Amino acid sequence: MIVAAIRTEGLYKVFGRRADEAVRRLQEGASREDVIPLGATPAVIDVTFDVKPGEIFVVMGLSGSGKSTLIRTLNGLLIPTAGHVYVGGDDIAALNPAALRTLRRDQMSMVFQHFALLPHRTVLENAAYPLKVRGLKKDERAAKARDALAMVGLDGWEDKLPQQLSGGMRQRVGLARALAAETDIMLMDEAFSALDPLIRREMQDQLLELQQRLAKTIVFITHDLNEAMRLGDRIAMMRAGRIVQIDTAEAILRKPANDYVAQFVQDVDRTRVLTAATVMEPVGDGALERGQPTVSPGTMLADVFSLSAQSPLPVAVVDDDRRLVGVIRRETLLSSMAAGDVAPTELTAEGEVTHG
Ligand SMILES: Nc1ncnc2c1ncn2[C@@H]1O[C@H](COP(=O)(O)OP(=O)(O)OP(=O)(O)O)[C@@H](O)[C@H]1O
Ligand SMILES: [Mg+2]
Repeated sequence: MIVAAIRTEGLYKVFGRRADEAVRRLQEGASREDVIPLGATPAVIDVTFDVKPGEIFVVMGLSGSGKSTLIRTLNGLLIPTAGHVYVGGDDIAALNPAALRTLRRDQMSMVFQHFALLPHRTVLENAAYPLKVRGLKKDERAAKARDALAMVGLDGWEDKLPQQLSGGMRQRVGLARALAAETDIMLMDEAFSALDPLIRREMQDQLLELQQRLAKTIVFITHDLNEAMRLGDRIAMMRAGRIVQIDTAEAILRKPANDYVAQFVQDVDRTRVLTAATVMEPVGDGALERGQPTVSPGTMLADVFSLSAQSPLPVAVVDDDRRLVGVIRRETLLSSMAAGDVAPTELTAEGEVTHG
C-alpha cells in the first residue's frame, strides 16, 4: 500500500470564539451559518483527503472558501481545531515543536502569491535561503541554488536584486527557492495569481514541465478554474469551508457532484480539458486506414478537432505502439464539445464529499 504523501482526516479549523463548541455542533450536523452567532468563523469544515506522492493536487474555491487556512494546517503553521493532518504517515499534531520545524524545513516548501523575497539579498541568496537555514556550507548552497535557478530559466540573473526583476521573474525566484530546498512536497498558495495572463500561462507550462522530471507532491491552491483544470491531476472543489467534490478535471466536467459545481464549470472550454480517450469509440482490433489522422489517447479535443478538419476520415486514436484503440467521428466530436451534454448526474446533498 502506498502511504499518502499528505492525508487529512475530519479536519476542522475554526477561528474566533467558542471554536470547540462550534466544531461539536458542526459534527452534529449544524450548518456554518448556525454556528456563526457563537462568534466562531469556521474556515475549514470536516475536510478529508489523500494527496498521492507525485501528484498535483489542486484546491480550488472562491475567495474566503478556506483554501489558505487549509494549506497552512498542512505544514503546521496553523493548529487544527479538530481532526488530523498526516505527512508521510506521521500525525503532525504528535510532533514536538523541534520535530515540526524539521518537517517544515526538510519535507515541505512553500511558494507564496506575493513571492516573499528578501529585498536586499541577491537572486542567488534568495534561492539559497532555505539551505542556509538548514545549515549547508556556502559553496554547497550556492551550487544547489544555481541549479534551481537554471531549472526555472534564470541563469545569468544570480547577482541581481529582486527589484530589478519583473513579476514573472520574481515568482521564478520563489519557485527556484522551493526547488533548491529539494523537499518532496511543495505547497503553492495562489502562486501564479499575481501574474498577468501570458506570464501566468508560461509559469504553468514550466511547472508542468518541471513536474515531469521531478515528480514532487504538489498542493496547488487557486481560485482560477482554468488553472485548476490545466495543472491538477485531481481537483478538490471547496465551498464555504467544505470540500464538495474531489475528482479529475475530466470527471468534474462530466459528473459535477452538485449544482454548485455544475454552475462553476459550465463556462469551461471543454476542448482544452477533455481528451481523445474520453470521447472515442473503442475498437477491439482494426487497421489504420491510409492517410487517417492519428492522435494519442491523451490528446486534447481542441487538437483532435483541428486534425479532424483536415481529413474526411474519422480520427484514429493509437497507443504508444501505434496500435488502433479507438476512433472519433466528427459528429461525436461536435456533440461532446457542447456543454449541454454533460448534465449533472445526480444532485447530492450540499457539502457531501464525492471521492474520485
Ligand atoms: N487568522 C484568522 N482569524 C480569523 N478569521 C480568519 C483568519 N484567517 C482566515 N479567516 C477567515 O476564514 C475564512 C477562510 O479564509 P481563507 O483565507 O482561508 O480563504 P481563501 O479561500 O484562502 O480566500 P482567498 O481566495 O481570498 O485567499 C474567511 O472567512 C476568513 O475571514
Ligand atoms: Mg487565500
